[in-house]
Amino acid sequence: MSMDGKPRRRIRAFSSFLLFLLFVQEAQPTSFTFSNNCNYTVWAGTLSGATSQSLSETGFKLTPAFSTTLSAPPGWSGRFWGRTLCSTDSTGKFSCTTADCATGTIPCNGAGSVPPATLAEITLSNNGGQDFYDISLVDGFNLPMSLSPVGGRGDCEPASCAWDVNTVCPSEMQVTSKSSGAVIACRSACNAFGDAKYCCTGAYASPSSCKPTNYSKLFKDVCPDAYSFAFDDPSSTFTCIGATTYLVTFCP
Ligand SMILES: *[C@@H]1O[C@H](CO)[C@@H](O)[C@H](O)[C@H]1NC(C)=O
Ligand SMILES: *[C@@H]1O[C@H](CO)[C@@H](O)[C@H](O)[C@H]1NC(C)=O
Repeated sequence: MSMDGKPRRRIRAFSSFLLFLLFVQEAQPTSFTFSNNCNYTVWAGTLSGATSQSLSETGFKLTPAFSTTLSAPPGWSGRFWGRTLCSTDSTGKFSCTTADCATGTIPCNGAGSVPPATLAEITLSNNGGQDFYDISLVDGFNLPMSLSPVGGRGDCEPASCAWDVNTVCPSEMQVTSKSSGAVIACRSACNAFGDAKYCCTGAYASPSSCKPTNYSKLFKDVCPDAYSFAFDDPSSTFTCIGATTYLVTFCP
């Protein structure tokens, strides 16, 4: 009895050490690799949720075929988007024609995107559980985007809106280029008309009262995996456990 007490304690100590290693493994940061597959330059934007720290970059330029990787701590929550048709004016002020963050600089520094903007949203687990992520057209659409986990366990399906929704945007929701007249973004019905039934506010502020509309269905037809209105959860939220990397792709 006294002979095997010590080895058992050692085994227990060793098991605790393995558990500790496992915990350290689960608490690894997650990488986000942003890639630009579009044939035009995209200026990515990142915004952290209220309780999450800012990422090392809040806005950066991605020329076609280039990629950039950022790291986020466990439990991080936030969103990503891509700004298009950006330029710097004679006074040095930077601005974008779609999804601008209106800071006057390439970094968004805690500012979100001016709608319409396609959004990739994610909440990482802080204890090795499920991450939740989606592509949202609730604030409209400006460019195709996807958010795909690499590795991980569970469903881990890519969230994607690969279609160029601008090509099917009804005239009353179009944002057009002043110079070329081309459709460069598509407003959501909430953003275009402000009605409670499109915005899921007021009398429509619950999943049972806010239903798909003819406008949200236009988005859903071409991008069935993306949020087409605020309570589009069942077909638009994705989960994955333990992915070490997520690929954020513009024009997947
Ligand atoms: C980008 O691709 C689109 C559609 O494939 C094409 O119409 C357009 O001319 C291309 N633009 C450039 C700059 O290559
Ligand atoms: C959607 O429905 C509204 C009326 O509810 C109508 O005025 C509008 O033209 C419809 N739009 C489309 C794109 O079907």
